[in-house]
Amino acid sequence: MFLKTLLVLLIVNLVSDSYGQKDKKFFRKDYTYIDTTQTFYKINSIPSTWADAKRICALEGAIFWHPDNEVELNAVLEFWKRTKPNIPFLWSAFSDILVEGRFVTVEGKSSSDVYTNWQHGTPDNYQGNEDCTHISTVGDMNDYRCDSKALFICKKSLQSLEWNLECDMPHFGYIFSYTTGKCYKLHTTPLNWTEANDRCQLEQSSLAVINDRLEAEFLVKLTESTPKPRLKKKYQRGIYHLGFHNRLNEGWQTITGKPLKTVNEDWFDNYQPDGEDECGAMFFNGRLINTDCDMKSFFICQHEVENLDEPIDIRLSSQPYVGGGVD
Ligand SMILES: *[C@@H]1O[C@H](CO)[C@@H](O)[C@H](O)[C@H]1NC(C)=O
Repeated sequence: MFLKTLLVLLIVNLVSDSYGQKDKKFFRKDYTYIDTTQTFYKINSIPSTWADAKRICALEGAIFWHPDNEVELNAVLEFWKRTKPNIPFLWSAFSDILVEGRFVTVEGKSSSDVYTNWQHGTPDNYQGNEDCTHISTVGDMNDYRCDSKALFICKKSLQSLEWNLECDMPHFGYIFSYTTGKCYKLHTTPLNWTEANDRCQLEQSSLAVINDRLEAEFLVKLTESTPKPRLKKKYQRGIYHLGFHNRLNEGWQTITGKPLKTVNEDWFDNYQPDGEDECGAMFFNGRLINTDCDMKSFFICQHEVENLDEPIDIRLSSQPYVGGGVD
């Protein structure tokens, strides 16, 4: 208990000390800050198509990497060789998908505005099917098929970092609850249960779990106050995936394998749980229900400071931890 209080005090101190200062150097624990370019980078180690790479970087709150200039290229090559020396090439966020022969970055910058270093004889649009770009460990570029899979880098410049101070995380639209001390976000793009939790994880969060009545009330208010899009496709209305399940047939448990405190007759909605459905959700009234894991629904993610694997390491490491606001 004392340790926890101490940790909270330290965090509060560090955050308030650094607020407004220039040396903010924390984005996410999976990103590395490189001083030369004042930017955070992550080599994403799930082989992905070019389009998926672009999407995943955006969902992590970052952008798909391409070298802006030679200085950045060299800094990133050095980081790449140091951390993932066995990867021969990565995607670069440079493509001529939109207009053949006109390569642009994901931010729309054209060849004349960014650094390019094509291998001899490229881009050659081999077999008329090479609209995306690989970059090799020596820093040269080659056009390649967009639907092939490769690793990629996401980047986030220090300058573009907006910090959600209350939630102690980058700004992803999470809302802090004073009653629970956690942060939540209602996602209004319907996904199935597994996809929903993956999406939460891209924001360093997980599907929300209701622990008590105040938390249920907060989540109900969140669903009431979040504008919902009109969707043509079929999805479960009034139902929000949450982070509990009975997929192992060991009784209802949280996504992290802990017993679910609120599972008893009082918490499930009338006549629930029913049937075979093994995933957990909240009805619009805050009561729990069981639901089909395959059904696409809205969902709620939660973020807790304690959720970080190594909160102390991050905050007390020699790299100054900096919460910071926005310059
Ligand atoms: C959810 O969607 C993913 C990806 O579309 C799919 O692979 C999976 O089978 C679906 N269902 C569940 C229960 O994960």
